[in-house]
Amino acid sequence: MQITGAARLAGIMGWPVAHSRSPALHGFWLAEHGIDGAYVPLAVPPERLEQALRALPALGFRGCNLTIPHKPAAIAVMDRIDSFARRVGAINTVVVGSDGTLEGSNTDIFGFRENLREGAPDWDPSGAAVVLGAGGAARSVVAALSDAGVREIRLVNRTMSHAEALSRDLAQSTIDIVIRPWSARATALRGAALVVNTTSLGMEHEPPLDLDLAALPIEAVVVDIVYVPLETALLAAAKRRGNRVVDGLGMLLHQGRPGFAAWFGTSPKVTPALRTAMLATLARR
Ligand code: ATR
Repeated sequence: MQITGAARLAGIMGWPVAHSRSPALHGFWLAEHGIDGAYVPLAVPPERLEQALRALPALGFRGCNLTIPHKPAAIAVMDRIDSFARRVGAINTVVVGSDGTLEGSNTDIFGFRENLREGAPDWDPSGAAVVLGAGGAARSVVAALSDAGVREIRLVNRTMSHAEALSRDLAQSTIDIVIRPWSARATALRGAALVVNTTSLGMEHEPPLDLDLAALPIEAVVVDIVYVPLETALLAAAKRRGNRVVDGLGMLLHQGRPGFAAWFGTSPKVTPALRTAMLATLARR
């Protein structure tokens, strides 16, 4: 739709930013709701991040999303951040307040939870969860699982020091994070109710995730946060043996909802039409 001189503005800061799917996502919602607004890519190099964030109020932007490599560094520039974002150590959404202050939050946590709720409504958080990987995405996943009431997380990662750092930063009295070596990933599945791949393994142009699912109960839910391809080898194998599977596209779509609502004043939904449109966008790359 045409924008006017009164259009509401938001965007995504990244370096590089050309790969981002967020302009397509927010563009879909803007068109769907007939909103006079624009969501634009903002290519901001790391050394200019603070300057760019501080310019948002001056430019009349309602806020922005952040992608690689800005998610951790932006925290220091915020006037306020939510408690989850502080624990995770990364923000992906900035909202400019009416007084020009910057509020940061981490909606990847919300995105993961909503995707899981939608894809596996019967999942029982009282069972153990296995998280593969200990990078930025794993931090959001562990925070989301902890918030959902999971009490035992088996954290499996190639580099032990990364897993130890995650455990230190996200430890809480209500949650037990047990670190397992990468070589123990198959046995870590024994008796688990949930498995989440947060590593880059299985992503297009990356090696597949080599994981023997034999020890995993059939009732367990298997989530891959990778969404290109939509059905990873892990999800295909889990589906074949009868596990419920949840792909990563929903996390990408749901994480955009809180920012859109704050900037454009309408709560957007994740619909089959949106999924279809985003899949077409991903296929065109
Ligand atoms: P993101 O922010 O997307 O989570 P990241 O911080 O680079 O990305 O984390 C990538 C994760 O994939 C890490 O857990 C990484 O393991 P290390 O901590 O050992 O680096 C994991 N990963 C990447 N390639 C891997 C491989 N070939 N085998 C096992 N794990 C791998």
